[in-house]
Formats: sequence, structure tokens, C-alpha cells
Amino acid sequence: HNGGLFFDSSLLQKQAKIPKQFIWPQTERPNALPEELKTPIINLEEFFRGDEVSTQHVVELIRDACSAHGFFQVINHGVDISVRQAIFELVDRFFKLPLDRKLRARRRPGCTWGYTGAHTDRFSSRLPWKETLSFVYNDGGDEELLSMLGKDFEEIGKVYKTYCKSMFELALSIMEILAMSQGLTRERYREFFEDGSCIVRCNYYPPCQEPELALGTGPHCDPTALTILQQDQVRGLEVFAEGKWQSVSPVRDALVINIGDTFMALCNGRYRSCLHRAVVNPHRERKSLAFFLCPKGDRIVKPPLDLSFDSDSGLMERKYPDFKWADLLEFTQRCYRADTRTLQSFS
Ligand code: SIN
Ligand code: FE2
Repeated sequence: HNGGLFFDSSLLQKQAKIPKQFIWPQTERPNALPEELKTPIINLEEFFRGDEVSTQHVVELIRDACSAHGFFQVINHGVDISVRQAIFELVDRFFKLPLDRKLRARRRPGCTWGYTGAHTDRFSSRLPWKETLSFVYNDGGDEELLSMLGKDFEEIGKVYKTYCKSMFELALSIMEILAMSQGLTRERYREFFEDGSCIVRCNYYPPCQEPELALGTGPHCDPTALTILQQDQVRGLEVFAEGKWQSVSPVRDALVINIGDTFMALCNGRYRSCLHRAVVNPHRERKSLAFFLCPKGDRIVKPPLDLSFDSDSGLMERKYPDFKWADLLEFTQRCYRADTRTLQSFS
């Protein structure tokens, strides 16, 4: 029985002080009033309309954002509001279950899907003030997870598949834009990811009585290729850009998109993945859903020849060695706690 190793978040919230395992070192703690990160809000309707001028406009906005820090937001993205709401509500219901029910779906070591508490390991330090529930799409693990969750969550199963299908389509469209923004043929990256998989991670951040000492998610770069984040209306996401932590406050109906390490390697570092984290607050719980696009496991991540040369010298200049996505994923899971810059320590 592993229950004893877990902090129960409903009990944690009732204590005056947070346990010391959740206290982060001074230098990593949140700032009281961070600036707002400049992210363009891109209207994808312009892209879906398909005429050349509108498409070019979107391509340029995304190129600028990706050259700066790799974060941008999209509206009119085609992911239905009813599906987005439904998944949020079902996930909320899951996190409100008693701990022992949630632990039935506990994420096993080396596994991508399942439940983790903030609370994963009582004896380590710098614990994140959150719980997560993860699904994988296109690889079979989801059926197992849903059977562990039981009959009550059959609905999550259906809704989450609709959600993933729609998010996957959006992610492939973004790949078309990214390819165009780097002077490649439109299909170049789309084809690379079409048979890929995805991970959906639902984050639940309970209110925290000492938010100035804690972090909801520690600083990290996403090891995956592309992340599409649906956040609720509570502020929390921060990005490290221009030498400081800056906030990406929620914009109604917008999805936040960022480049991950695997895309950074795929485009030979033309666009970089950027360090980010989530902070917590004393008043309101926060939820976010992160959709991660990943290549098929046995795909070799290697930049197109056009991007492998230095444009000034004309010489081959590869920033990262070739790797298989499955190997990077496995590495990530092994050093799951060394959360900062996975690709750098892997290659
Ligand atoms: C993450 O990047 O892992 C979480 C981001 C968030 O909850 O806003
Ligand atoms: Fe992230």
C-alpha cells in the first residue's frame, strides 16, 4: 500500500504552513509582480481561410514569436468550446475524488500515463504544489488507464479522445506554419508528425497558503515537440525571457503554444525551447491542460538538409546529434525529477 507516501492535498491546504519539502530555494522562488510576456494573439482564421496574404501574415507573426522565445497564443483555432469545457469539468471531478480513489490510477515508474500527487515522494525536496493526470493518445495506454479509473470515468474516455483528435489536427496545422516560416515546403514537418502520438497532462494546482515559497511546476523546457496549453482564468504560467520571469496571463478562448526540445532539435536550433514554470496563489485553485505533440517513437529526430548548414559559412553545422524520440522519452522518465533542461543533459 503506497498511500502513506502521499500528501493528501485536501489536508495540506488546512495547515498553516506548508511542509518543508514544498519550500523552494530562495533563488527559485516567484517574484511578487512579474511583467507580462509579449506574446502575439494570432487569429488562426486568417490561416484557415487560406489566401496568400493572410497566410503570410500568420507565418510572419509566428516566426517572430518563435525567434524571440517560442511562445505565442492562438484564437479561432478550431477546438470547440464545448469539448474544451467538458474536458475541464471531467478533470475537475477527478481531482476532487478522495486520494485513495485517485491513487488507483497512479502513474507507475517509467510510465507516461496516470495520476501523480504533488506528493509523489514525501522524502524528496522541491516538490511541486500540484497533482497531475496524464493520458497518452495513439498508443494503447489510455485504455488501461480508463479501466483503472472505472465506470464513472467512461465519459472522460470519450471526451478526451474527441479533444485529442481536434488538438492533434491543430498541432499539425501549426507544423505547416512552422515549416513555411523556415522556408521549407508546407508539408515538411506535418508529415513527420502525422503518425505521431500525443500526451495530455491535466494539471491541478490547489490554493497554497504560502505561495511565495512554493512553485506549482518547477522551471523546465518541454522535451516534446510542441505544447498547446489550455489554461483556466487563473494566472500562473511564467516564461524566462530577456533574463527575467514573465507572466503569460490567461486570454479567454486562447490556447498558448510553445516550442519543445524535440522541435528545437528538428529545426537545428533555429527556434529554441524556452524555460517556463507555474506559480500558485493563496485564493484560487488553478487548472491547465497541456497537450504535447510527439513523433512516433522510432522516428529519428534529424533536421532537414536545408537547415543543417550555417548560412554564412555554408558548412555543415549540426547543433544536436540524431536521436530517437522513444529514447529521449525514456530518458525523461528516468530523470523525471531533474526537470530543468532535458535535451541538454541527454545529448
Ligand atoms: C507546464 O508547463 O508543465 C505547466 C504549465 C502550466 O500549468 O501553466
Ligand atoms: Fe511545460
